[in-house]
Amino acid sequence: MEEQKIISALQKKYKFKNKPTGIDIIANKDVKKNIVFKKIEALKYLKKQKKYDLILIKQTIHFFTKTNLNHLLNLSKKRLNPKGKILIFSLKTKNNKIPCFKKMRKNLEKSLKRDEVLFKIIKKNLKK
Ligand SMILES: C[S@@+](CC[C@H](N)C(=O)[O-])C[C@H]1O[C@@H](n2cnc3c(N)ncnc32)[C@H](O)[C@@H]1O
Repeated sequence: MEEQKIISALQKKYKFKNKPTGIDIIANKDVKKNIVFKKIEALKYLKKQKKYDLILIKQTIHFFTKTNLNHLLNLSKKRLNPKGKILIFSLKTKNNKIPCFKKMRKNLEKSLKRDEVLFKIIKKNLKK
């Protein structure tokens, strides 16, 4: 998946001390050799006492309830090393030009509206 291509490319370029880990609740096929993949739920994974320099959350926040999104962010902050960063990628909510049929467009618009609410939650949480 896209996110794993990103962390694999970062690993290739920067040769981190520890192999980057990618997680998903569904198994990924063709996992790149220079990363570790774990099939696990994000909140469960972040409860493990490990620390990271970078936590990348890409196109996944829309799966979370508002409460669980706050849990995700709180746990992510806890898991960061000093100067560690959290990067959250999401679809552009306005004029994103994603080609889709009428029904999908309607559902997408609804989801993107919800994303805007989620962005506010993220901003508020990460300011703390
Ligand atoms: C739109 S895909 C994006 C996948 C990948 N992050 C990327 O950017 O290519 C969203 C993924 O989030 C995963 N997902 C949803 N809820 C999750 C959770 N609670 N913990 C871990 N992964 C989750 C889904 O299985 C799905 O593969």
